[in-house]
Amino acid sequence: MTNPLCTLSHEDGVAVLAIDSPPVNALGQAVRQAIHETMGKALADPAVTAVVILCAGRTFFAGADITEFGKPFAAPGLHDMFDRFDGASKPIVAAIHGTALGGGLELALACHYRVAVPTAKLGLPEVALGLLPGAGGTQRAPRLIGVAQALDLIVGGKPVAAAQALRIGLIDRVLEGQDMRAEAVAYARELVASGAPLRRTRDLPADLTPQEAAATIADYRARHAKSFVGFKAPGNIVRAIEAATDRPFEAGLTREWELFEELMASPESAAQRHIFFAERAAAKVPVARDCGEVAIASVAVVGAGTMGSGITLAFLNAGFPVTMIDVNPPALERGAAHVRATLEALASKGRITPSVRDARMAAFATATALDAVARADLVVEAVFERLDLKQQVFRQIDALAKPGAVLASNTSFLDLDAIAAVTARPADVVGLHFFAPANIMRLLEVVRGAKTSDRVIQTAMTLGRKLGKVAVLSGVCDGFIANRAMARRSEAADRLLEQGVMPWDVDAAMVGYGFPMGPFQMMDLVGLDVIGWDKENTAGRTVQEVLCEAGRLGQKSGSGYYDYDAQRRGTPSAFAEATIRDFAARSGQPAPTLSAQDIIEHLLFPVVNEGAKLLEEGIALRASDIDMALVAGYAWPVYTGGPMIWGDHCGLARIVAALDEQIAQGAPITVSNLLRTKAAAGETFL
Ligand code: 3HC
Repeated sequence: MTNPLCTLSHEDGVAVLAIDSPPVNALGQAVRQAIHETMGKALADPAVTAVVILCAGRTFFAGADITEFGKPFAAPGLHDMFDRFDGASKPIVAAIHGTALGGGLELALACHYRVAVPTAKLGLPEVALGLLPGAGGTQRAPRLIGVAQALDLIVGGKPVAAAQALRIGLIDRVLEGQDMRAEAVAYARELVASGAPLRRTRDLPADLTPQEAAATIADYRARHAKSFVGFKAPGNIVRAIEAATDRPFEAGLTREWELFEELMASPESAAQRHIFFAERAAAKVPVARDCGEVAIASVAVVGAGTMGSGITLAFLNAGFPVTMIDVNPPALERGAAHVRATLEALASKGRITPSVRDARMAAFATATALDAVARADLVVEAVFERLDLKQQVFRQIDALAKPGAVLASNTSFLDLDAIAAVTARPADVVGLHFFAPANIMRLLEVVRGAKTSDRVIQTAMTLGRKLGKVAVLSGVCDGFIANRAMARRSEAADRLLEQGVMPWDVDAAMVGYGFPMGPFQMMDLVGLDVIGWDKENTAGRTVQEVLCEAGRLGQKSGSGYYDYDAQRRGTPSAFAEATIRDFAARSGQPAPTLSAQDIIEHLLFPVVNEGAKLLEEGIALRASDIDMALVAGYAWPVYTGGPMIWGDHCGLARIVAALDEQIAQGAPITVSNLLRTKAAAGETFL
């Protein structure tokens, strides 16, 4: 009886194993079993001279089945299968299309030869899940492609295209790709006809002497030390590759497995795997199945400031023609110059080819009159963040845009419903909240107004994917998901300052937690006068007001919470310190002595609390959406998984107790009912 997951057919002495397990042919137990048995059958058949293994559907194996992680293991394992491959007395050829990733590429490495279609990509991306290739990848790859290339491939985690894979020796031939199966069978026949040896990757000689390998590895470690901070996987991967260079294959496998298991049990990997699934969950939003989508062939962006030009670039980079509109000609020229300079820079760095640059330049137009929105299927408003101004612009857009066009506002905290209400078509109005720089940051909050149609929401979610972003759906509220949650961190940080805790201690704790910078470093970067300072109504009531009044506006003025040198390197400021001490003295209480962990909890427990409120108010659909939004929008360290899963990890009862203590000390916060209920019931968010 044939197994539906793995069919076996014969073509003139070549056995073809075709695996079909949608959507991505993950190597779950049933698939492993099917391959193991079918391969056994093919190898035992005296009429078979060679075997080709390939996949049906959109891709070669995408790796081990991640949903099985953490569950009891069921045989056969990948190692059992690969032992059978290694022991074969006939050549096995992997024929790759789509992506060969993780355990999928490890399977190919355990074959004797590998061929791929030109569009195929091959990689060992386990590092992104906080793991390492645990099925021989760290032992076979260095033997096949050399230690230096293996370090790049496995620690970097970025898949390589077929042509590059051929160059580094990861595959043996790039097929034409017209008929992969026939071409792979022909290749297998060639091997048999030429008497090609059974090339077992495990038996290939090392490319470096042990001393050379040790030096290469030490150099790699030193060069990448900074980017490894906080992550556990890169260090373990390097150790596993080291084992490939200083001991026999079997002993290397044992070491690889120890290091793999250590990662699998680590909170860092649990967090990174959570984010993998969070990203995919975020794409699933409650809209009618048959709602359809608006076809977006052209885009107009209204406003040529920092956000407008960043948004324009995001769309251009995704292949959309964009007209950037600003009624102020000098502002339009500045924005357009930024767009063009960025495209030029991408080309000069080799990130895009000159012809792609030219195509994007050609797809870019500018206009000073708003009637240019009439041609667009999507209009994105990115004017100054003031409700009356945005309403005025939306009234005009409403009068000019074609029927059925999607009208989006890039507001970051205003009431989208109040904006939609000035139009005659609130069902077509949606929030598209980009994070600066809009062409770089991965988060796109799709804001659903009270009247936004399913069709428009679905369109926006699809657009997010086309832009290469993670789209997260948010309801309407002040600040939406990411800004609202993180505002609580800033407030908590300010409260510490009022008690006499120094900004550099707060920032150091946040950097230690894994953020690229702390809240006061961020304020200095953005400008103290930009967020939360009213020039007309300032009276030295807060540390920020005093600093602003003294002209200490942050990096741009050479001083803020820190003093800056000509290279914009900050050092603790005596002025800021004296101001903070002065404020703290008024309370009559001595400044608290806080450890970095105390500061982390003081700042981030309120974020968890706000996340709970976002859930109970229905602003966020799921806890994992909040985690995803903060990881993608605020560089929340991915190895902690975001505030909600981190909160689970800390213990919700502990968080409630700590928040109650802050409240007792006068913090103007309230604890979310959902958080209290879950804490009392011993539950978690995820
Ligand atoms: N295991 C289980 N499910 C997987 C999976 C995997 N390895 N890879 C993808 N899926 C699931 C996704 O969760 C998604 O499920 P859903 O439809 O229920 O949300 C579905 O397959 C489709 O995935 P995408 O939405 O991501 O589809 P794309 O076409 O955009 O991307 C892909 C396809 C490039 C294969 C992408 O899914 C991907 O990068 N997958 C992960 C690859 C990976 O990390 N492999 C290593 C696994 S760990 C490993 O192999 C350990 C080994 O060394 C022992």
